[in-house]
Amino acid sequence: MGEKKKYLITSALPYANGPIHLGHLAGAYLPGDIYARYCRLKKRDVVYVCGTDEHGVPITITAEKLGKTPQEVVDYYYQDIKSSFEKFGMSFDNFSRTSLPIHHQTAQEFFLTLYQKGYMEKKSLQQFYCEHDRMFLADRYVEGTCPYCGYPEARGDQCEKCGKWLEPTQLIEPKCKICGNKPILKETTHYFLKLSKLQKPLESWIATKTHWRENVINFCKNWFKEGLEDRAITRDLRWGVPVPLEDARDKVLYVWFEAPIGYISSTREWAEKIGQPDRWKDYWMDPDNTKLVHFIGKDNIIFHAIIFPAMLIGHGGYVLPDDVPANEFLNLEGRKLSTSRNYAVWLNEFLEKYDADSLRYCLAINMPETRDADFSWRDFQARHNNELADILGNFVNRTFTFVKKYYNGRVPARGSLDSMDQELIQQMAKIRDQVGHFIDTFQFKEATRRFMDLARLANKYFNDREPWRTRKENPEACATTLNLCVQTTYSLAILMNPFLPFTSQKIWQMLQLKGRPEDAGWDQIGELAIPDGHPLGDVTILFRKIEDAVIEAEIEKLQKIAAELEAEKQQRLEEKEPPAYISIEAFRKVELKTARILKAERIPGADRLLKLQVDLGDETRQLVAGIAQHYTPEELIGKTIIVVANLEPAKIRGVESQGMLLAVSDGERLTLLTTDRDVPPGKPVS
Ligand code: 2FM
Ligand code: ZN
Repeated sequence: MGEKKKYLITSALPYANGPIHLGHLAGAYLPGDIYARYCRLKKRDVVYVCGTDEHGVPITITAEKLGKTPQEVVDYYYQDIKSSFEKFGMSFDNFSRTSLPIHHQTAQEFFLTLYQKGYMEKKSLQQFYCEHDRMFLADRYVEGTCPYCGYPEARGDQCEKCGKWLEPTQLIEPKCKICGNKPILKETTHYFLKLSKLQKPLESWIATKTHWRENVINFCKNWFKEGLEDRAITRDLRWGVPVPLEDARDKVLYVWFEAPIGYISSTREWAEKIGQPDRWKDYWMDPDNTKLVHFIGKDNIIFHAIIFPAMLIGHGGYVLPDDVPANEFLNLEGRKLSTSRNYAVWLNEFLEKYDADSLRYCLAINMPETRDADFSWRDFQARHNNELADILGNFVNRTFTFVKKYYNGRVPARGSLDSMDQELIQQMAKIRDQVGHFIDTFQFKEATRRFMDLARLANKYFNDREPWRTRKENPEACATTLNLCVQTTYSLAILMNPFLPFTSQKIWQMLQLKGRPEDAGWDQIGELAIPDGHPLGDVTILFRKIEDAVIEAEIEKLQKIAAELEAEKQQRLEEKEPPAYISIEAFRKVELKTARILKAERIPGADRLLKLQVDLGDETRQLVAGIAQHYTPEELIGKTIIVVANLEPAKIRGVESQGMLLAVSDGERLTLLTTDRDVPPGKPVS
């Protein structure tokens, strides 16, 4: 298929329950903005949408904590987030809110179509209910001890400590998050999205996405391997998009069902604002000609690469994402961010002291594309001082100052070009194409490096040409040098626009050019567009150096928080029970033996369990093991594993288990203990 004509670009909708921090920017926002700005310069037909995600339990929990209504919370953070994005230079065509009527209506229509097409099923289930608060507790409203790692504050949907996804009913000693009471199990009904029915078309669609990032593809493959389960997409909550069915009047749509539909609603709102209410369909409903790209952080892959596409397929008529470039996480001074403990750098505070472009540059060149990255204040200072100020700023400044001083502020006439001049012109075009290629393939780090290469090269050209010398010895050569330096500044202004929009704008003004750099075209990079004699505007310093003391104060602030976090961790460790030693005799009582897996099968209705028949040397035993999400039955056959052979038999989901196998979990994956060399079954392990 040829190049698509229309570009529909989205960045994840941030929850309206807290301010934006640097981790958000590096994940979903900066890359989306660089891409959208570049596409516009390429004169592609672009719509870039975002908005705040205003429903869901994180919002109601924040509201309860602050003693405010959810509406008050989202109103505040919508403004806060919108304004910090503007100051950061985000170029959304529309920034919407999921609490708007247009979104409620779009999400309800979407639900109804899926319902009418048979992709919804009503099922009853047992769910936690708090008799004190008289409400069903959505997963995050239940807390308890993680059954995997023993962390006492695991949430009903996930344990933050070991990362496992959980069902609230798996928690040990579950508690209601609002009042702390023990909830009871009570029957309720919910609508389930039939993902199982959509797995096949999804799988064939994703199979065509050979250009996707490896982390995204692998993630999807693992889900498919485990088999997609139908998912409850309604909740017993009062805050959210009401389910548009009579029999579910008191329920709302699950936030992860309706939030991605927010991309559609935001585009609809944009179309209404420009007075062409149907225009959104040109993008969402013209799959052959539209390229849809979702910029997200890695924690959102499941929703953008699997669930939302499944919904779009089920609905029909919509474009599916062409790519989902998910970024990894950004750490801070070598440590994980913690928003609750204020171990973070908040955008609005940051922008009170430093320039948005310096941050954009530093984040872009360190973007967590294929692995987690780190933001450090020293690196920020070095990037700002040594690259932005000393290379880019210096080149522009010395060019303008020279023209002002010796040519009365008018661009000197270009004479004949020698090979060094030609080389500079060729490099502009070459770097333009390289930067373009890297942005088009979502390699933003590399694109940023290459863009700075042009400034580096231009600086070197200035040095090598020595205009301060040729001014007297060879005036024509000197004029040509300065002319080309001004032309390069012009090219740089366009080339940097996706990365440094504010600086690009400043240079545009210094060059006294009409309009905005955004109106120029990418192809103009490398053109010698500034006429001889063109008057230049005033010189402004683009980047002022950041002093060591300023950075040290920032580091100190974080170190203080880090020290507190460490002290708490230490205290927790000390409070832990001392190791309970056992005697060698006690250990010998545990009969560990090698066993060979003869047969493995799934247990209907138990998604996590497998039933195994193992050869124990002189007998065959049946084991039930919670490994179904980590191994397929087929791949287990023939493996030699280690089992506890003298464990009291137990019934698990009604199936007898005559022993236990040993496995190790790294938080996400479970790995069976096997033997390093081939060992016959039934051998004692000691
Ligand atoms: O992780 C988050 O912050 C979510 N609010 C992202 C939603 S993206 C989209 F689906 F709306
Ligand atoms: Zn309660």
